[in-house]
Formats: sequence, structure tokens, C-alpha cells
Amino acid sequence: MSLLEVSDISKSFSTGRDFLGRRTGWTHAVQNVSFHLGTGECLAVVGESGAGKSTVGRIVLRLIEPDTGSIAFDGQDVRAATPTQLRALRRGMQMIFQDPHSSLDPRMSILDAVAEPLVVHTGLDRKTRTATVRTLLDKVGIGDRYLARYPAELSGGQLQRVAIARALTLKPKMIVCDEPVAALDVSVRSQVLNLLRDLQEELGLAYLFVCHDLALIEVIADRVLVMAGGRVVESGTVEDIYHNPQQEYTQKLLAAIPVPVPRSARH
Ligand SMILES: Nc1ncnc2c1ncn2[C@@H]1O[C@H](COP(=O)(O)OP(=O)(O)O)[C@@H](O)[C@H]1O
Ligand SMILES: [Mg+2]
Repeated sequence: MSLLEVSDISKSFSTGRDFLGRRTGWTHAVQNVSFHLGTGECLAVVGESGAGKSTVGRIVLRLIEPDTGSIAFDGQDVRAATPTQLRALRRGMQMIFQDPHSSLDPRMSILDAVAEPLVVHTGLDRKTRTATVRTLLDKVGIGDRYLARYPAELSGGQLQRVAIARALTLKPKMIVCDEPVAALDVSVRSQVLNLLRDLQEELGLAYLFVCHDLALIEVIADRVLVMAGGRVVESGTVEDIYHNPQQEYTQKLLAAIPVPVPRSARH
């Protein structure tokens, strides 16, 4: 059994209403999507903007309710979870968003931001929490010199490292990473990607790695799900998708990569 089993999920959003308030249009954001994710594995969800990638990530975490389909995490039915069960499930699955400026509260110090999940979910005392935060900030390459600082004082790359530390506090089994480097300077993207990969190896984390850029996933993904218009158009190992894409859509996405895939990696 996989850590995460997603079966046949669909979600439509209403896009308009007439003068009587009746719904007039629907966006089929996600249509009959199924996949699985093993412990310690990284599944990249790729596709152009509007493909439904973020909606899939949010449905998995039950931040959005799907119209149909089922989700099992660690053997538990996510959709049927009671509030108490969901609270426990949420310790095991965390999320990192694209823009760390908007995912971190500007009025909270770095120490408080990273410690917050420990306050909410554990009975650890302040001293132990601070020690845990120091260890985590060390792990993500920030060190403890920013403990008392506020988000506005850090760069985008540093803030994303803080967001990663925060996501790790409760020792999750899976992190949904939604375009985690897209908002960062090109110069720090690979550093943050490498950090995510190193943490994955060290901690045995599974990632659902949402990304619109196929060029970024080669270093981190094991398997790839290609989405277009809310549907899965192709899936396979990262080698399959890079070297032997079956669908024209995937071939086009690959052709859009500015730097060619190294020749050594081709057949
Ligand atoms: N809350 C929402 N209300 C209405 N439409 C939405 C909402 N969220 C997403 N959509 C629509 O669903 C589609 C898929 O969106 P999204 O999952 O964000 O795609 P992606 O992350 O691949 O760019 C898009 O057409 C988007 O406009
Ligand atoms: Mg998105």
C-alpha cells in the first residue's frame, strides 16, 4: 500500500452566476485524476498554468473538498476524517507554497513562525520548542542568527528555507510543494531544490511536487504526472518522461525547456 492513494478525484468551480444567482458556468479544474505516492518518493505534477496542479495538491490536504473521488493517506480515508482525525493527519502532511512572503505572517518572528506548529500540536515547553527550532533552522542552512528577525528582513530564498523548516517541525511523512522555487531568484533556485532533495533523502520524506517547469524536476522527481486541462495526459518515471515522452503535449513541454537536457542523459 502506498503512503498516498488518490483515486478518481474531480473538482469543478462555478465561474459565473446569472441575475437570479443561478450558476451559469463551470471550470472543470480536476477531472478523474488518480495516482499514488510511496514513502520517501517524489512525484512531480507538471503542466501549464491552469492545468489543475494546485487544486490537486489542495484536495490531497483537504484544503479543498473534491466533488468525487477518494484519498487515502497512511491507510486512512482523508475525506471521511473527523476534525480530530484530520488534525492528526495534518501532522503527517505539510505544504510549502510558492511565495514565502505570503505564507509567513509578517508580524511573527522567525522563531515564533517555525515554533507555531509545535505550540498548536504538541505540549512541548518554550525551551524545548526553541531548541527544536534552532536544530531545524540549522538543518535548512539558516542557522540561528535570524531567530528574532521578521520575514521582511530576510531574502526570498532565506524565507523559503524558513517555510521548509516550519513544514518539518511535526516530522511529516509527506510535503506538498506547490511551485516552491518559482518565486525565487534564478540564482537560488537550485540551492533550494538541492536542499529539498537532501532533506528528502535524510528524512525519508515523500513529496508531491507541483511544478510548471519540467526543467526543474529532473534532480528531484522519481515519477512524473503530466496534467493538462484538469486531466492526467501522461505519467511515468522521470526517465520515461524525459527520454521517451509518448504524448505530444509532453513533447511540447519538453521542447519548451530553454536549456537542453544533457546529451549524456539522452539515448
Ligand atoms: N477557487 C477557485 N475558484 C474558481 N476557479 C478556480 C479556483 N481555483 C482554481 N480555479 C480554476 O481551476 C483551474 C485549475 O487551477 P489550478 O489548480 O490553480 O491550476 P495550476 O496550479 O495548474 O495552475 C484554472 O482554470 C483555475 O482558474
Ligand atoms: Mg498552481
